Amino acid sequence: MTESSSRQIVIFDTTLRDGEQSPGASMNLVEKMEVAQALVELGVDVIEAGFPIASPGDFEAVRQIAKMIRGSVICGLARCRSEDIDRAWEAVRHAERARIHVFLATSAIHREFKLKMGKEEIIRRAVESVQRAVGYCPDVEFSPEDAVRTEIDFLCEVVEAAIEAGATTVNIPDTVGYATPAHMHRVISTLRQRVPNIDRAVISVHCHNDLGMAVANSLAAVEAGAGQVECTVNGIGERAGNCSLEEIVMTLRTRNDYYQADTRVVSRRLVPTSRLVAAITGMQVQRNKAIVGQNAFAHEAGIHQDGILKERTTYEIMRPEDVGLTLSDLVLGKHSGRAALADRAKALGYRLSGEQLNSVFEEFKVLADRKKEIYDGDVAALIEHQIHTIAERWVLESYQVTTGTGRIPEVTLTLRHGDEVRSAQMACGDGPIDAVFLAIEEITGFKVNCKDFRVHSVTVGKDAQGEVMVQVEYQDALYRGHGVSTDSVEASAKAFLNAINRIASVVNGTTQPTASNKPGV
Ligand code: KIV
Ligand code: ZN
Repeated sequence: MTESSSRQIVIFDTTLRDGEQSPGASMNLVEKMEVAQALVELGVDVIEAGFPIASPGDFEAVRQIAKMIRGSVICGLARCRSEDIDRAWEAVRHAERARIHVFLATSAIHREFKLKMGKEEIIRRAVESVQRAVGYCPDVEFSPEDAVRTEIDFLCEVVEAAIEAGATTVNIPDTVGYATPAHMHRVISTLRQRVPNIDRAVISVHCHNDLGMAVANSLAAVEAGAGQVECTVNGIGERAGNCSLEEIVMTLRTRNDYYQADTRVVSRRLVPTSRLVAAITGMQVQRNKAIVGQNAFAHEAGIHQDGILKERTTYEIMRPEDVGLTLSDLVLGKHSGRAALADRAKALGYRLSGEQLNSVFEEFKVLADRKKEIYDGDVAALIEHQIHTIAERWVLESYQVTTGTGRIPEVTLTLRHGDEVRSAQMACGDGPIDAVFLAIEEITGFKVNCKDFRVHSVTVGKDAQGEVMVQVEYQDALYRGHGVSTDSVEASAKAFLNAINRIASVVNGTTQPTASNKPGV
């Protein structure tokens, strides 16, 4: 099989829209811009940047991405309502290439209970909305939401009407993750056989993972003739998530012999992009996650190791370097300079501005004084902490806690906010970390509810850095925090402060509230 006989499948990434709807995965504007740039470098064809009518924050993020990001189509989502479509166009109009994606549910359950609309009204609304969107831009996608549970005759009717109205892509969503591969194959094949104008549009598929089959269902759709797959980095998304981008891309590449289809994705950017999205959203991938998990290329069994040493293809169907996994774990230390650090950062897939590199280098020197050997995991943790840092901030100056079995901890903690330095001294909490959190609340004035607290070691050894992730609730919205240090109480304090700084930036109006406090789709 030659490369040229491959069909090119359009990769439509919805990490910034459906992915961001994962509970707690909301991103601020700077983070969304960073992910969008990484997606361009990854080579995705379409970036669904958000749902502009959902909130002013979403609108602004889509608008900025459309204005600044070049190299991929930028898409905004809209319900079949004039105000949604107008707002979506307003947000994407400055894109190099813009797309408006309109959707309307078509299944009997949604028609009866959610929309209270009959079939005729659904078709009329879909047609009017596609026509309104086409009036703004030629690239229009239509999605009959819950398509997989829609009566097939009606689905064919809606799809035909949407294409007639000007839709250039018709997306078939498995909104609730109900399909199986054979079912999905049948739906796409039927549409291809029965919709007379189907050749005028690209058939797309959008699978949720509720039964763990999002990737398999998307592949079945490709096999049946779909030309676009909607997916997210690390498979994040509503509930059990969406089709995972890295899995669909690597399946098509590795099994090109079977699917005779490929994508434009630069596979070496898969691991770096996965790490970036995990760092920004706080949603770590499981160790055994296909393609990008820590163990995805680790061979433990003796027989496998022996085989790999003799000939890698005995047990390896993909090469780690092809997905961007750096194999070296070069050790840096206190004598390593800025250039060596910049080099490791690049090899790990991070793009740092000069300013970011300077800050990471400062922290690297502090760490090198505490810890003899600095591994890739340490460098990644420092960079990720830098990525999480937001402009307006309280900074931890110092803390001291004395505690012991059966004693109430005594904490003295000092924070700096610009030129102002504030301290609290109190006896409180049921452990040193709780005491530090209470002292931070006392000083900053933000009382929050801690919903999640996770600590893990980023490398090996007793002097390894601890990485802490917290999730806190404040006025019905969730905020994440991230901190690293060789001292786990300090890492916890930094993570908690990072979350408080996010709250402060929303409360003070420097950042818009994000996904956790706005309506989703
Ligand atoms: O899952 C879904 O149906 C969606 C649509 C908006 C495409 O996300
Ligand atoms: Zn979805």
